[in-house]
Amino acid sequence: MNDLFNKAESFIKQYYREKKLPDSARKKRLNEIKESIMSSGTYEQTYDEIEFGAKVAWRNSNRCIGRLFWNSLNVFDAREAASVEDVKQALFNHIDYATNDGKIRSTVTLFKPRRADGSDPLRIYNHQLIRYAGYKQEDGSIIGDPHSVELTEFCKNLGWEGKGTPYDVLPIVIQLDGESPVYFEVPSHLIKEVPIMHPESDAFNKLDLRWYAVPIISEMKLEIGGIEYVTAPFNGWYMETEIAARNFADEDRYNQLTQVAGAFGLSTVYQSSMWKDRAIIELCTAVMYSFKKAGVSIVDHHTASQQFARFEERENEEGREVTGDWTWLIPPVSPASTPIFHKQYNNTWKSPNFFYQPSVMDTAAKSGCPFFQSIKK
Ligand code: ARG
Repeated sequence: MNDLFNKAESFIKQYYREKKLPDSARKKRLNEIKESIMSSGTYEQTYDEIEFGAKVAWRNSNRCIGRLFWNSLNVFDAREAASVEDVKQALFNHIDYATNDGKIRSTVTLFKPRRADGSDPLRIYNHQLIRYAGYKQEDGSIIGDPHSVELTEFCKNLGWEGKGTPYDVLPIVIQLDGESPVYFEVPSHLIKEVPIMHPESDAFNKLDLRWYAVPIISEMKLEIGGIEYVTAPFNGWYMETEIAARNFADEDRYNQLTQVAGAFGLSTVYQSSMWKDRAIIELCTAVMYSFKKAGVSIVDHHTASQQFARFEERENEEGREVTGDWTWLIPPVSPASTPIFHKQYNNTWKSPNFFYQPSVMDTAAKSGCPFFQSIKK
């Protein structure tokens, strides 16, 4: 109880301070919260509080280079969503609004938070609302995104069948109130995808690479004033290196560097020829070119770094210290060409923030629930 009130108090103080609201209102609100916690073990936040809290959680996200735009986050309140149908509608609405036919809008949707007794009204199994399946083959190879193998297996056990292509969008899997998980497909008209083409190479285009437009992280917990929004999917827009230098390049992801080098006639015999580096740059070029051509928001890592420097300036002007995780802030391509590389950051995690939490797949399996025992390998 004390712990929750302390967290609530420090959040409410920050909210009234930054919004320049009167002291008398703050005192009244804190009393209200204290009484609510004493009688029910928790308290309900107002829309204005969650809107502010979610924005500040983004501002405090140490690993995010895109924080300049924290104050333009769109905050949707879906705390009323109670049935599978309600949740479905709220998630589809998020996808549709955020995608905005390519002019991506940063958005978060808050569902009912964790209860005072520690139970969760709703959890999402997916890492992102839109993500490609990964099918493990008999010989151990994987078709699709290796990152999704576990969830893909889980979906198949629930009865889902994918087409088996490298780019099948997984269904969304949710759990209402500790019940058995249910899944549903995202209607294809809501899913914007970009064929990845290179401005100068037909051989590259034959690789048939594609990626989805909007990354919507759906497994993290948003904590505001001690209230844990265990289901609060959020999105921004992509930085090109995320797709080009990681999703397509990592050996434990789509692992495309050899194929890209081939398309450009680069010899892969000697590492010292820098064929990997060249292939990565061609991928970055292609991702930027393709997203722009498709009219889908994206930022390159040089521009994003400049925007981050402006964020740091503005925060300094406001008298706030910028915390950051250097290992994540530096882009994976040409990091030393950005100002971030040459600085140090304090990696203290402030609240409100987005936190990792145990995945619901693991929690359900460990709880000894027989349903999960039988399907989780
Ligand atoms: N890196 C993740 C991906 O490639 C997305 C993380 C969030 N990225 C963002 N630009 N908001 O799918």
